[in-house]
Amino acid sequence: MMNSSEIRKQFIDYFLEKDHKFVRSSSVVPTDDPTLLFTNAGMNQFKDIFLDKKKPTYSRAVNSQKCIRVSGKHNDLEEVGVDNFHHTFFEMLGNWSFGDYYKEESIKWAWELFTKVWKIDVNRLWVSVYKDDDEAYNFWTKIPNLDNDRILRFGNKENFWEMGETGPCGPCSEIHYFIGKDISSQNPNGVNLSDEYRELWNLVFIQYNRESDGSLTDLPMKHVDTGMGLERITSVLNKQYSHYETDIFKPIIDKIVDVSGKDTSYKNCVPHKVIADHLRMLSFSIADGAVPSNDGRGYVLRRVLRRAVRYGDLLGIKDNFMHLLIDDLIDIMGKPYPEIFDKKNHIIETLKREEDSFRKTLDKGLIKFEEMVKDSKNKQVFSGDDSFR
Ligand code: GLY
Repeated sequence: MMNSSEIRKQFIDYFLEKDHKFVRSSSVVPTDDPTLLFTNAGMNQFKDIFLDKKKPTYSRAVNSQKCIRVSGKHNDLEEVGVDNFHHTFFEMLGNWSFGDYYKEESIKWAWELFTKVWKIDVNRLWVSVYKDDDEAYNFWTKIPNLDNDRILRFGNKENFWEMGETGPCGPCSEIHYFIGKDISSQNPNGVNLSDEYRELWNLVFIQYNRESDGSLTDLPMKHVDTGMGLERITSVLNKQYSHYETDIFKPIIDKIVDVSGKDTSYKNCVPHKVIADHLRMLSFSIADGAVPSNDGRGYVLRRVLRRAVRYGDLLGIKDNFMHLLIDDLIDIMGKPYPEIFDKKNHIIETLKREEDSFRKTLDKGLIKFEEMVKDSKNKQVFSGDDSFR
C-alpha cells in the first residue's frame, strides 16, 4: 500500500529531478481571473505565462493544485456519489513546460513514471491522442512496451482541452487504465465510454488561445500542461477502485457512519460519499476566503452545503453535523495544505451558521407548505404561485 502523501511526493520528486521548480497550489478562489468562479485546473495560475503577459523566472514547474469543478465548463457535481471517482474538489498533480520541452518529453516521462517508477501494468493502459495529432501519435508509437493497438484517436470532446469559454488550450493526449477483473475483456470501444476505463493523466499541448469570439489564435510559444487527479492515481496504485476506500476519504466516511449510525451499505453509501466530497469542497473554499451567500461563488457554496445537509437528512441526521468532520479532514490534508488547519475555527463557524440557517429555512418552509396543502385541499387547487413560493 502507498498512501496519498507518498504518491504526491513521488510525483513531485520525479519532476524535481528533471529540473522542474515546485510551485505551491494557488487558492481555489481565483483573485484575478473573472472567467472563473473557482480554480478548475493546475494551469489556471500559469495562464498569463501561456498568454505571454508574464515572463516566468523558470521554464519548468511541478505542483499539486487544489481544484473545484462545480461550475462553468468543468462541472462534476451530478456524478459525485453516484460513481466512485468524480469529485467537486480534488487535487491535480501536474507538470508544466513554458516554451521548453513539448510532446516528446512529456509523453516519455509520463510513461516512465507510470511503468518504471509506479510499475503500473502496461497490459491495462490505453493512450489517446487528438484525431489530427500525428506528432503525439508517433511519439507514442516509439514507446517500446506500448502496443500500437492501444493508441487511440478521439475528437474535440475527449482530446482537445480548454479551461473555459476562453483561454489557453490545445490538443491533449490521455492515459487511461482498465480497472476490470478480466484483462482479456478489454476493448478499445470502452475507452472514454465505460467506467471500467479510468482516465488518469491528461497531457495538454497548449498552443492556442480561445478568444471571446470563439476563434483560436496561435500562442507565441508552445507549452505543456498536464493534469492527474491524485485521488484517481491513489485509487489505482492501491487497487481500491472506489476513491472513498482510499486514505483520502476513508476516515471521513467512517466518521459519517459514527455520526449517523448508518453503515456504508445504507442507501448504497451515496449519502456518505456526497457528504465527504462536499465537506472537502466547502472547507477548502471557505479556508481560501469564499463565503456562502445569495449570488455568484457564494451561492455555489450555499447550494453545495444545502445538498450535503439534505443527504445528511437521508441518513437521519437532524442536528448540525458538517463541522464534526473537520478534524478528520485536517488529519488527512492539513500537512500539505496548512490553511485548513489555520482556518479551522473559521470553517467550523461558517459551516455551523450556514447549516443552522438552512435548517430554520427548511422548518419554516415545511410549516408554510403544510398550510398551503390544507388551503389547497379546501380549494381543490394547489396554485402556481404557491408552488413557486
Ligand atoms: N489542464 C489539464 C487538465 O485539467 O486535465
